[in-house]
Amino acid sequence: MANYLPSNLLSSHNKTLDQPRKDSIANITLEYLKMSARKGGPIPSEYGEMNLAMNTVAQLHHSGNLSHQDLEAIRLELGEAMTPKTIQGFAYQQPHGYAGDFEIIEKIYNNHVTAEPHLANWDNFFQSHPAAQAVRNRVSFFLDQVWSVRDQPGRTARILNVASGPGRDLHECLKVMGPTGLHFDCIDQDLNAIQHASHLCEKFTSNISFLHQNIFKFVANKTYDLIWSAGLFDYFSDSLFKRVIKRLLPSLEKSGKLVVGNFADDNPSQDYMEFFNWLLHHRSTKKLQQLAQECGIPKNNIQVQREPEGVNLFLIISAHS
Ligand SMILES: C[S@@+](CC[C@H](N)C(=O)[O-])C[C@H]1O[C@@H](n2cnc3c(N)ncnc32)[C@H](O)[C@@H]1O
Repeated sequence: MANYLPSNLLSSHNKTLDQPRKDSIANITLEYLKMSARKGGPIPSEYGEMNLAMNTVAQLHHSGNLSHQDLEAIRLELGEAMTPKTIQGFAYQQPHGYAGDFEIIEKIYNNHVTAEPHLANWDNFFQSHPAAQAVRNRVSFFLDQVWSVRDQPGRTARILNVASGPGRDLHECLKVMGPTGLHFDCIDQDLNAIQHASHLCEKFTSNISFLHQNIFKFVANKTYDLIWSAGLFDYFSDSLFKRVIKRLLPSLEKSGKLVVGNFADDNPSQDYMEFFNWLLHHRSTKKLQQLAQECGIPKNNIQVQREPEGVNLFLIISAHS
């Protein structure tokens, strides 16, 4: 399959392309995807070409040269590769009824690859993507944040985990750091996520309270040293983003911090994610700073950091500078 796609495919299409040229680029790409699906998905030496195909599909779609129906037809051509038997198909079909559910995030953390040999290449391809690595990198970022608030003089540190999902980051954190001096309140709107996380973290039940709640209705009855939320704010429009930040700020301790994850707008996996309809509000460092300032937070209290893959940004708001 090597060099099946011309390497200049992407640069050669734009809005001014004539219809036959557009059709031919779309057809070459579709034929490539069908051929790859027949062979069981891309092997590592074909990842470059598969990514080129994904970039091409996205650009044709964004420029209006590939309709929504055409895109759906291409997805259908991939057959089983777009069913929940693969991670990309799981994301596409959303068996839990919403994007980014706890089960898919857990599959990413666990580097899961299907046991069905004819589909395994697709999962390996998915797990090789920078976005998947960025999700796995959240764990150590979370650990660093918890570590930084751990030693509260004379009391337990209080941490609020908003949209706690599978609880994998929490589990790893408690396993590595030990539970002494830490208490977590975890909110999630999905009862299945809460049940999964409670089971996973059952050794640490006295350090965790799970709350089955929607963040839009949550009213805190205490203050927190750390409020953490990863994998939630990139589903929010700018106005929702600010609404939730403003809702959480009064629950910060005087020396506390609010840490909010958001995928960066230069995420190299963006086109691939769009192929299986995992749509996020990607944001730049500048945009995150701007949104925080629009919530009334002074510039000096705002920082943005990245995990090592550079894909998952973290907006860090300190209650005091
Ligand atoms: C992508 S997962 C992130 C899980 C976890 N924070 C992590 O990074 O591993 C998103 C989670 O957000 C939860 N969620 C989505 N909207 C929510 C809301 N309005 N209130 C509370 N939880 C929500 C979902 O149920 C899901 O478990």
